[in-house]
Amino acid sequence: MFDKNNLKNVQELVISQLDADFMMMFDGVDLPSPLDEASRYAASNGGKRVRPLLVLATFLAVGQTKMGSMVRRAMLAVECIHSYSLVHDDLPCMDDDELRRGKLTCHVVYGEAVAMLVGDVLQSLAFEVLGGNFGLGDVDDGVCVRLLKILSPNARRMVAGQQADLNGEKKSLTQSELENIHKDKTGALITASVLMGAVCGGASDELMVKLEKYAQLIGLAYQVQDDVLDVVADTKTLGKPAGSDDKLDKSTYVKLLGVDTAHAYADELFEQARGYVVDLGENNLLLQMVDWLQKRGY
Ligand code: IPE
Ligand code: IPE
Ligand code: MG
Ligand code: MG
Ligand code: MG
Repeated sequence: MFDKNNLKNVQELVISQLDADFMMMFDGVDLPSPLDEASRYAASNGGKRVRPLLVLATFLAVGQTKMGSMVRRAMLAVECIHSYSLVHDDLPCMDDDELRRGKLTCHVVYGEAVAMLVGDVLQSLAFEVLGGNFGLGDVDDGVCVRLLKILSPNARRMVAGQQADLNGEKKSLTQSELENIHKDKTGALITASVLMGAVCGGASDELMVKLEKYAQLIGLAYQVQDDVLDVVADTKTLGKPAGSDDKLDKSTYVKLLGVDTAHAYADELFEQARGYVVDLGENNLLLQMVDWLQKRGY
């Protein structure tokens, strides 16, 4: 049994459960070679699993104690979308990076055509997993529809954000323009994660409003922090190439505000996020989540 109030414990559970569920999912579909191994390579390796962790942490923080079939589906689905976004993000025609999660990127190992298809298939699988079987247990159709209504627009927002990110290369954007990019490319999936956990956990409408605010704040903070880490952390710690943003003259919070002010801004957003979940109890999982995210990598 795991201690549902201890983030580290929940984190270990998420990592092992996801590995098992990814395996079950890939075993349940018949993908031709090398799409099969390339998809497993891109999805089943490392990664902090922040989004599925947010799904489960929210589910538990709103009062649930046992990980059911629908919450497992939500965890797996959002990580499918996220993993696909990383494979495409690293392609030569996008950010052109050769390292991801401490390993060579998918296109470096399998070629660009396969990497493109890996992204495509992971996206389809995300939605298949929400409503299909895959040995994950019974599907609750009502919950399934609510999850689809959360995940699909936010997956699309992530893509829109990626286009806006490309449009922002070599430009000087205003803070509000940059904020919109970050809210879309990264905030959307983080918000979806929290909301899906809340739906699976049966949170009230009133609580959902607060959780959404919390998620939007940590989503923006997470990408501001990613911009800072790109400059202050090393490649080994990041598991992806440091200095990638500068290479492409991306519009980032570091470019806009400088490292220290960007770091302070991320801290301020994390602090605001805490305010929306304090009512869930002292040192609850969502507060622990903010503590953990805030400290990561620095
Ligand atoms: C990387 O996300 C891309 C961003 C949106 C910042 P993560 O930092 O969550 O990547 P993994 O999943 O842990 O590799
Ligand atoms: C990526 O932002 C956001 C995604 C939707 C994948 P970045 O391009 O900054 O992410 P990293 O730094 O490569 O992980
Ligand atoms: Mg990018
Ligand atoms: Mg990138
Ligand atoms: Mg980055």
